[in-house]
Amino acid sequence: MTAVDLLQGVVHLPIVKSLHWCDEAATARFARALAALPGVRQAYIELQGHLGAGKTTLVRHMLRALGVQGRIKSPTYAVMEPYELPGLNIWHFDFYRFSDPREWFDAGFRDIFASPGLKIAEWPENAAGCVPPADLIIQLDVQDDETRQVTLTAQTKLGASLLHQLANSAPDEDRP
Ligand SMILES: Nc1ncnc2c1ncn2[C@@H]1O[C@H](COP(=O)(O)OP(=O)(O)O)[C@@H](O)[C@H]1O
Ligand SMILES: [Mg+2]
Repeated sequence: MTAVDLLQGVVHLPIVKSLHWCDEAATARFARALAALPGVRQAYIELQGHLGAGKTTLVRHMLRALGVQGRIKSPTYAVMEPYELPGLNIWHFDFYRFSDPREWFDAGFRDIFASPGLKIAEWPENAAGCVPPADLIIQLDVQDDETRQVTLTAQTKLGASLLHQLANSAPDEDRP
């Protein structure tokens, strides 16, 4: 995909890219690179991976980079943690315990996805049918040596544009 393709809207989706993170510092570098892209402020990002894969850790590094201060709680029990920054709303979802679709309507999540801002979801498979297609899916797989194999999948033009810009700003390999 070239910048010209993007500008002309010629994007063949999905676009998949693999990364490898040796340690949490590599996760943090990626989080900062992603947070620095203006498009992320309108994105819906899904995080996939087993318990302990590093989904919440990635979100914490992203939110810090975006300017969130204070404690960043895992929304495992609350399902959703909202953050209001100057000019940016962020919603961090964890659908691990989300089973009853009525919760969805009660919680007004539909309005959230219709609003501008960054939405990030862990365990999106538990909310299938309740959430729109993600712009970007980040799948984390823990390797035997505890490093993380990462698969990025762009499903929309916004996601493709984020991947394209990431490729220019963050190299695949871990940098010291
Ligand atoms: N490369 C890495 N990226 C993210 N977390 C890592 C990495 N290496 C080790 N960890 C550790 O793995 C754990 C991941 O926990 P967490 O982010 O809560 O996982 P999840 O939200 O996927 O259940 C944290 O203790 C973190 O410090
Ligand atoms: Mg988590």
